Amino acid sequence: MRAAVAVDQNAEDPLSGLALQELPDPEAKPGWTRVRVRAASLNPHDVWTLRGVGHPAERIPMVLGCDGAGVTDAGDEVVIHPVLGDPNRGGGDVTLDPRRALLSETVNGSLADFVLVPTECVVPKPAWLSFEEAATLGIVWGTAYRMLFTRARLRAGDRVLVQGGSGGVGSAAISLARAAGAKVYATARTEAKRAFASECGAHEVLESGARLPERVDVVVDTVGEATWAHSLRSLVPGGAIVTCGATSGNMPPAELNRVFYQQLSVIGSTGSTRTEFEALLRLLEASGVRPHLDSVVALDDVRSGFQKLIDGDVRGKVVVRT
Ligand SMILES: NC(=O)c1ccc[n+]([C@@H]2O[C@H](COP(=O)([O-])OP(=O)(O)OC[C@H]3O[C@@H](n4cnc5c(N)ncnc54)[C@H](OP(=O)(O)O)[C@@H]3O)[C@@H](O)[C@H]2O)c1
Repeated sequence: MRAAVAVDQNAEDPLSGLALQELPDPEAKPGWTRVRVRAASLNPHDVWTLRGVGHPAERIPMVLGCDGAGVTDAGDEVVIHPVLGDPNRGGGDVTLDPRRALLSETVNGSLADFVLVPTECVVPKPAWLSFEEAATLGIVWGTAYRMLFTRARLRAGDRVLVQGGSGGVGSAAISLARAAGAKVYATARTEAKRAFASECGAHEVLESGARLPERVDVVVDTVGEATWAHSLRSLVPGGAIVTCGATSGNMPPAELNRVFYQQLSVIGSTGSTRTEFEALLRLLEASGVRPHLDSVVALDDVRSGFQKLIDGDVRGKVVVRT
């Protein structure tokens, strides 16, 4: 099979370690399901792996790709829930399993003609989602769902600010918060990206760092250092920031005086459980919200897709068709 493989890690030049290779097809084994991948999508996670961030060198080479949708050997159309682990070790929550991993961290990922996944990670693909749409859901949509509804406990009528509203998690969070009846504000750094955040459902989109017309109950922040101070200042007393990433850096000033005096909550979130992922699918069906595809590239052109992601030239998701 063809596969996009991380063969090396380089912090400055991540694509120097990316190779398109011919590998043997994975063999089916008990407890695992082999999926003929029809579409996969790109995530910053793949780029972190290529940069050597959070992925130990001894786990190279590794087939990249956390997200995917395809057809099992039995002929079932499926979407992959990419969080691997044991819910029992996490008190019933797989994301809290200390040994949990995402697809492509400990086993080969989905940027290939075939991927082998634990059978519990295979979820029936609804007919109303294309393979390309379904391939965007596992990481950013699942993560945005958990951030909003499980971790920040968003309620209808809450005010939400989404920082980096054109990104994968950001654009999903906008659409999900809007579908759940929230008043949604977003920020983005360019006019085109602000227009996109609007199309995703934001009621009002501002430049990064701009003062909001009102304070919000919840901030979704995946940007980190560049937006953190603004996020803290945008909250009502008692409000919450929920974070799943730190694209611009992970060491902003803590501003503890603001946190305790305004009684703010800083909430971490990672991935989603299968239960949350299935609830996400129901929310998409009920609301009519659909994933935002920036572009679709062939597996043979995966390098150009990664270049787009690295350049920050993406609105929503880059999908790879295999
Ligand atoms: N913990 C988890 O489970 C989990 C899951 C998914 C993602 N993540 C992490 O979350 C982060 C976002 O992921 P993603 O897939 O949404 O990435 P993405 O699609 O690349 O989006 C990144 C967003 O960050 C914004 N941004 C970057 N630098 C910025 C800066 N200096 N100032 C303001 N905005 C900035 C961009 O805004 P502009 O559009 O305005 O340039 C873009 O909208 C990544 O670090 C990723 O690794 C974690």
